[in-house]
Amino acid sequence: MSEIVIKSAKNGPNIVTIDGEVKAAFCRCGHSKKKPFCDGAHRSKDFEADEAETKVL
Ligand code: FES
Repeated sequence: MSEIVIKSAKNGPNIVTIDGEVKAAFCRCGHSKKKPFCDGAHRSKDFEADEAETKVL
């Protein structure tokens, strides 16, 4: 069975990995021009958020 993990990077996006491989990074700062995906804009917007991790399966 695959291991699916959603990690909220400190001051960054929600990163989805499956079996350790990054599949997508979703914006959570609201500034990406490629929503729902992160385009790195959080770095220049002083976005601050805690780090967290959730294992789905
Ligand atoms: S979290 Fe990276 S652009 Fe929003």
